[in-house]
Amino acid sequence: MKIDELKKKAALEAIKYIKDNSIVGIGTGSTVSYFIKALSFIKEKISGVISSSSTSSEQIKKYGLKILDLNKVCSPIIYVDGADEINNKMEMIKGGGAALTKEKIIAAAATQFICIIDESKQVKILGNFPLPIEIIPMSYSYIKNQIIKLGGEPKLRKNLITDNGNIILDVYKFKILDPIFIEEKINSFPGVVTVGLFSKIKPDIVIIGTQSGVKTLFNKIK
Ligand code: A5P
Repeated sequence: MKIDELKKKAALEAIKYIKDNSIVGIGTGSTVSYFIKALSFIKEKISGVISSSSTSSEQIKKYGLKILDLNKVCSPIIYVDGADEINNKMEMIKGGGAALTKEKIIAAAATQFICIIDESKQVKILGNFPLPIEIIPMSYSYIKNQIIKLGGEPKLRKNLITDNGNIILDVYKFKILDPIFIEEKINSFPGVVTVGLFSKIKPDIVIIGTQSGVKTLFNKIK
C-alpha cells in the first residue's frame, strides 16, 4: 500500500473520536487534508473548527466547515494533527508545513490531542527529519550560531514567510537524544517563537496507518 493510503486510513480512523457538538482543532499537512475531507461529511454534527494555518483554512473553507476563533471558544477542543517524526515516548518533531506555532498553541489548549501518521513517521531517535524553528527575522544570525554550538546544521527555509510573518530555520544532522532539554534550550534563545519539538505537549492518542492495518496507541503517562 502506498504511504498516502496509510495516511488516509489513519485520518479516517480519527473521525471515530469526534463526538457530537465537538470543536475540532485542525493541524496542517497531507494526512490532515484527508481528515478535513472526511470531517466535511459530518460537518452538521460538529460546532466548528479551529485552524492551524492558512493552508488548512483554505481547504476547510472549500468544504464549508465553520472556522472559529480560539479566543472565543470555551468548550473542550479535540485537536487532530500529523507529525514529521515521533519516538516511542510520543515526543515529536513537527513543523514540516511551517505551521508549528499555531499547532503548538492549539495542541496546548486542547482537551484531547489525536496524532495521525503513517508508520514511516515512527523513529527511535528524533532528528533525522530537520527540526524546524520559527524565529523573528532579526535574530537569524544569533540563533544560527547558537544552534551550531548545540551541534546542529541550521539552514534557512527558502522563500518562506510564516503565517505569523516570521522565518523558519531547519536544523539538519541533529541527533536529539534528550528532547526535553533541547526544547527548553532552544526556547530560551531570544528571537525563537517556537521550536518544532513537542516533548511536553504530547498526543493522548496516536493513530498509525501501517501495512498491517491501523494501530492505535494511547498515552498513559499524560
Ligand atoms: C505541519 O506544520 C507539520 O507539523 C505536519 O503535521 C507534518 O508536516 C505532517 O505532514 P504530512 O501529514 O504531510 O506528512
